[in-house]
Amino acid sequence: MVSLQLEGRTVVVTGAGQGQGAAEARLLAAAGARVIATDLSDDRPDGVTSAADGLLYRRLDVADASGWKDLASWIGSRGWTVDGLVNNAGITQRSRLLDASVADLQKVYEVNVAGSLLGIQALAPLMGDGSSIVNVGSVAALTAHYPVAYTASKWALRGLSQVAAMELGPRGIRVNTVHPGFIQTPMTATAKPEFRQATLAETPLGRTGTAEEVAGVVLFLLSPLSSFVTGADIPVDGGQSGHGGAKAVSDALR
Ligand SMILES: NC(=O)c1ccc[n+]([C@@H]2O[C@H](COP(=O)([O-])OP(=O)(O)OC[C@H]3O[C@@H](n4cnc5c(N)ncnc54)[C@H](O)[C@@H]3O)[C@@H](O)[C@H]2O)c1
Repeated sequence: MVSLQLEGRTVVVTGAGQGQGAAEARLLAAAGARVIATDLSDDRPDGVTSAADGLLYRRLDVADASGWKDLASWIGSRGWTVDGLVNNAGITQRSRLLDASVADLQKVYEVNVAGSLLGIQALAPLMGDGSSIVNVGSVAALTAHYPVAYTASKWALRGLSQVAAMELGPRGIRVNTVHPGFIQTPMTATAKPEFRQATLAETPLGRTGTAEEVAGVVLFLLSPLSSFVTGADIPVDGGQSGHGGAKAVSDALR
């Protein structure tokens, strides 16, 4: 039997109240980690009511530096180190190129970019050799994508991830980015049907993904099984970003 060796390790997951973050928190706890699931609500959300031992919940707005500081103090006061951080919390913003405002940009950057930077700054001091950080990007960080503010924020997150992998590598801390394609979560439940159809046409596996399929890759990246992987961009997208637009040609000639 292969062990994921997450027993006794402490992992913080942001935006864990629903969707991918909740699936990641549940899977990591099931794999033996002590998981500190965090989200905006004061009360433990339904998505993390799992009875799994070691699944804790705390309120955290990732855009709030003092909230991160409090979380780090709370973890330190218990004598725990941090072995994993999943910067999953993110918001979407669907304004198009000629309509997007500076406020739109600021809003998504505050959560998707600054939230991840603040998390790394607050928790890296509690992390040691063998720790792992996973940032949650998007296929929008690998290609052009119509919502301009969201797309720019996810490309910026990629830049942050690469700097963090370089700067924290000498301390034995790995930093990788997963890039989900169309995943069925409350976020995509509000997308137009046309968006879903057009995305499926560009996805070689021909279907949408589940939150659990992203969580499996996050689990791998947090475990010692990926001990020599850092600075990597890993699509979890059914092949959407890999063909660079060639799928339409392939389909036309079938
Ligand atoms: N669902 C997809 O198809 C998809 C595709 C690509 C990338 N992503 C990315 O995956 C991540 C998770 O997306 P999801 O689909 O599960 O979204 P979701 O909207 O279902 O869940 C996001 C969670 O983040 C929380 N959150 C939002 N702002 C926060 C803040 N300031 N502080 C703390 N928590 C906050 C929300 O309360 C929510 O629980 C996001 O970073 C998103 O951009 C999603």
